[in-house]
Amino acid sequence: MKYNPEITKARYDEYGDKEWDRLEKDRLGDLLYHVHLDILKRYISSSDHVIELGAGAGRFTKDIANISKSLVTSDLSPVQIEINKRKMEELGLADKVQDFKVLDITNLEGIADTTYDVAVCIGGPINYLFDKEENAINEMLRVLKPQGRLILGSMSLVGALMYYLDGVLYEKGKFGIDATEWLFTTGMQDEEHYPVENKHYVHMMTSKELDALFQGKPVKILEKSSAGLFMHSQEETLSKAKQDNEFWELLIRKELQFTKLPGTLDCGMNIIYVIEKL
Ligand SMILES: C[S@@+](CC[C@H](N)C(=O)[O-])C[C@H]1O[C@@H](n2cnc3c(N)ncnc32)[C@H](O)[C@@H]1O
Repeated sequence: MKYNPEITKARYDEYGDKEWDRLEKDRLGDLLYHVHLDILKRYISSSDHVIELGAGAGRFTKDIANISKSLVTSDLSPVQIEINKRKMEELGLADKVQDFKVLDITNLEGIADTTYDVAVCIGGPINYLFDKEENAINEMLRVLKPQGRLILGSMSLVGALMYYLDGVLYEKGKFGIDATEWLFTTGMQDEEHYPVENKHYVHMMTSKELDALFQGKPVKILEKSSAGLFMHSQEETLSKAKQDNEFWELLIRKELQFTKLPGTLDCGMNIIYVIEKL
């Protein structure tokens, strides 16, 4: 399938305010939020000029605004970026965001080379690009200064298959075994091979595919992390766990730690890479 920004834009325009609740509505969202926030805090300092790409409603915009020197935030969806602006105004943070832009990560024309210390693109914008993934990587690296950092988050194929296996089994009944094998093999839930009704066409990735995207580029991988590892304990157990403050605090600490083990890299809902531009 070829990249079609109109489908993604329409989806997130329609999704509206629900994107703000994405990381609050369940305990998996809590896990994802904590792992991403920990990485943002460790790789962004108060002297950094940051661009956030595919920012959505601003769940992380508010945090990046507080830890960076300056922030430009952006998204493909004009509706999401309007919501983002409104949320930052409500939180009294609008002054800390230099600009709210509509930007497509496959083409950042209008942004000069070597402008930013950090580019943040988390929560899966890269998964909507199909044949344009490399364009986006090149563009994100282009706008970074030398020694700048790219914080990139992708949906994880293996983690998602394990977590949603029941749904995949149900869909096998609709699409057949060849389509199911296609999904397992390529990670592509696409219009031609796996035409889900909600048109959520994505390419979920393995860490091997992420490695390949950076292969041969002038970069150094600083950190690899999974996110959402304890999602496999299921929502009901996690909700009970959250009611026990000291247990929950321990679980979050261990989620941060275990997601850095090489053996867990593909097992969460997301995979996060921190890349230094050389
Ligand atoms: C799941 S949301 C993640 C939002 C936020 N980064 C987070 O982690 O909470 C994915 C966002 O990526 C945006 N997106 C998808 N494709 C994009 C593209 N080509 N360029 C920029 N943003 C894109 C969508 O509009 C949506 O707001």
